[in-house]
Amino acid sequence: MKRHDIFTIHAAPFYAYRKQVILRQAQKLKQVFPDFEILYSIKTNPFFPILQTISEFGLGADAASAKEVSESRRAGIPSERIYFSAPGKTRDELEDVIGRCHIIADSFHELDLCNRLAQEKHAVLPIGIRINPAFSMEGTEGGPSQFGIDEEQLLSSHAFDDFPALRPTGIHVHIQSQILDADQLTAYYAHVLTLALRLEHLWDTKFSYINFGSGLGIVYDPDNQKPLDLDALQRKISTVFDAFRPRLQAKFLLESGRFLVGESGVYVTEIMDIKISRGKTYYIVKNGTNGFFRPVMKELMTKDQHTPAPAEPFYTCPNISQVTLLADREGTETVDIVGGLCSRYDLLASNVTLPRAEVGDRLLFTNAGSYGYTLSPLLFGSQTPPDQLWLEHEIDI
Ligand SMILES: Cc1ncc(COP(=O)(O)O)c(C=O)c1O
Repeated sequence: MKRHDIFTIHAAPFYAYRKQVILRQAQKLKQVFPDFEILYSIKTNPFFPILQTISEFGLGADAASAKEVSESRRAGIPSERIYFSAPGKTRDELEDVIGRCHIIADSFHELDLCNRLAQEKHAVLPIGIRINPAFSMEGTEGGPSQFGIDEEQLLSSHAFDDFPALRPTGIHVHIQSQILDADQLTAYYAHVLTLALRLEHLWDTKFSYINFGSGLGIVYDPDNQKPLDLDALQRKISTVFDAFRPRLQAKFLLESGRFLVGESGVYVTEIMDIKISRGKTYYIVKNGTNGFFRPVMKELMTKDQHTPAPAEPFYTCPNISQVTLLADREGTETVDIVGGLCSRYDLLASNVTLPRAEVGDRLLFTNAGSYGYTLSPLLFGSQTPPDQLWLEHEIDI
């Protein structure tokens, strides 16, 4: 099928995800991190065919809720490849997932909950710990965080005295996503490895896993961003990992959401009206903010500053999606693309130049595979939410 057929047959709006792009990205990760276990961060897009693809490819799961643990199991991911890590887990959630995944505690309160659950079951529970490290992604000092336990609070051989039914088996660090600099990532991995060795020594243990979290970025704006140099990354990290490997028995884990699925997805919607107001042309589309919120965030987050904050997973930048008109039209015009909600920030793109569209034409937005559907306020305005389509075969957009 040609591009225009597939994208114009199905009732808009909809998301469409391309399986072959996900497989391509997964293959790249396997190449750069050959002896790592790669975990798909389900929160980025829990669409079930994606989970099945991840499972078929042999990847594991980074689950952020008990439901995501269940979905991973349903997709065929074995328990030993599922890692449950999120702040604010409830006792019920923890009880529900015990034995179905690795649990990574995010606080002393969670360690206490897990310890009690283990004692009730007269068992010793292997537990991972999410750490808020004393370093930042830029190599400066780490700050306060709602994620994990501060490294300093764990730097004692007595850190587990209050939790006799727990056995620390792994650590998890994640401080920033959307990094496109191989040197920065390499330095970060070295810091995490150093921390792991230090804790193993203090707690007189050998970890069975070290989870480096995510960090791998993708290009959202090709005019202003350069892709992460994967060859350079592979070269640089192999030196670091080779140096640490002999001193560690742990399996290395890497999480990834956007790198695996971000580029696989597109959002397609329809122009419902075209309006000219005091010289400015507006294309009014079906389900703007309440279909695809991600480009709208740029308008919200860059209002008073030129560089958007790297707030995850709300990372955004100018031109976060490239827009294409799915119709052959003569001439061009520069327009704002807006939705139909009661907000002037229901704005998917401003001042984009496109062929001169007509009402009923469709627009396609790229980079909609991660934090697209999940992050959008789909109920706002009580319109029918977008569909999600799965494209098995290679297709050009
Ligand atoms: C702990 C953790 N791991 C992994 C991810 C996935 O990040 P990305 O989609 O950038 O790979 C996130 C995103 O916020 C996260 O918080």
